[in-house]
Amino acid sequence: MTTHKILINGKWINSESGQTFTSANPATEAPIGKFQAGNKEDVKKAVDAAEKAYEKWREVPPPKRGRILYNIAQLLRKNKERLARLVTKEMGKVISEARGDVQEAIDITEYMAGEGRRLFGHTTPSELQDKFAMTIRIPVGVFGLITPWNFPTAIPAWKIMPCLMCGNTIVFKPASDTPLCATELVRIIEKAGIPKGVINMVTGSGRDVGMPIVTNKKIRGVSFTGSKETGETIIRDAGLKKLGLELGGKNGIIVMDDAKLDLAVDGIIWGGYGTTGQRCTATSRVIVHEKIKTRVETLLVNRIKKLRLGYGLDPKVDVGPLINKAAVDKTHKYTQLGLKEGAKLLVGGHPTNVDGKGFFYKPTLFTNVTKDMRIAQEEIFGPSISIISVKNLNQAIDVMNSIEYGLSSAIYTENMRSAFLAIEQIEAGLTYINSSTIGSEAHLPFGGVKGTGHTREAGIEGINEFSHTKTVYVDYSGRLQKAQIDVRD
Ligand code: UN1
Repeated sequence: MTTHKILINGKWINSESGQTFTSANPATEAPIGKFQAGNKEDVKKAVDAAEKAYEKWREVPPPKRGRILYNIAQLLRKNKERLARLVTKEMGKVISEARGDVQEAIDITEYMAGEGRRLFGHTTPSELQDKFAMTIRIPVGVFGLITPWNFPTAIPAWKIMPCLMCGNTIVFKPASDTPLCATELVRIIEKAGIPKGVINMVTGSGRDVGMPIVTNKKIRGVSFTGSKETGETIIRDAGLKKLGLELGGKNGIIVMDDAKLDLAVDGIIWGGYGTTGQRCTATSRVIVHEKIKTRVETLLVNRIKKLRLGYGLDPKVDVGPLINKAAVDKTHKYTQLGLKEGAKLLVGGHPTNVDGKGFFYKPTLFTNVTKDMRIAQEEIFGPSISIISVKNLNQAIDVMNSIEYGLSSAIYTENMRSAFLAIEQIEAGLTYINSSTIGSEAHLPFGGVKGTGHTREAGIEGINEFSHTKTVYVDYSGRLQKAQIDVRD
């Protein structure tokens, strides 16, 4: 088995800790590689390298940075199938979704490459004569990027590409469940011509690598995607850094009595059981009009029974495993909790395996759930959906908003008024009309409100995450002009 290394200042080296950990295939439980268990000494070295590289990288003209990003995109495209198979092997999502994961990385890389010839500020008139006013973008400095395992190429790319484009340098800590995907991504970035020290990668635990990044004074920004609990720790310990936090979700789909039910059922199955429910945008609540509740339940149960579980490299498999044993235990804890709370289990509700192996869990559907039950409030991050019935749109929106998170949401309706009321009144960063809660695109912003955090990644707003705005005034009057004071009505 290969022992992989960490990347510091353009060199692949061993950790100071002398320790390694193993990454395994969640469908077969077969080990796939050993990785360095990094520590705070490694982080320190990585930060020093990034700080040094920053001096030069910040001065590289953005169109030139953009050209390197185009090279990265081209290499990702060339390696798409190889990387996708690796995503399935290490993370478990089925191969069609793994290709989507890599495609999302390609899309964001191309989008951000194009920013090389934009990176717009704006100009606006001054209130005084012979004075010019504008904004420009400036880099933040050394950035710590801490990423999850559920999109092992897409989410690192969402952060790395705009971060590089804006002239920052990087200390990257990937999730410990998917270090091989991260290593391959970083190798491609290196190969595309990123100078040494501009991107550094340290694998290892949140405690030994993540926290030293968060608390390091030389790091000016931290971008993190993961749980609300870790997000809150980061807010507490980071000090005065620019923070980007993409935390959890408890996303719902409203199905009104005028909806096209087959379409809604397609969206629920895809949103709830796609990626085995392991997306922060996953559908975990179905808020259904009481008139069609029984019909929706029947349609869903029939579809769920046909879902094939297995190793995602087999194209006939619909649902892959969960990421690890702890994820199976957590999903099952919520099943037991749901039963205790009085919800009715319609299908699924237990761990399983394929050929005696793997961290599989049967796609699970609860009904007669009320909005305050813990299964309707807390993020499960597994293949578990709760049906909550409502009498009308007002009540549906009230249920939708009765959670601490605010990431994604959807409504199925043929009524334009209902659709627009949902757009206006749902408290979420994303609202889909007649499509599922998942499926954001690289050129549009992605993020939430309330307990999800308020960061926006991707799209042009993704650039804001990784740059500061500098306001510039140029006074060419040749005399002291005082804003607010020398202005005559
Ligand atoms: C996440 O789950 O953390 O829209 C991100 C989606 C994907 C991104 C999900 N494009 O579900």
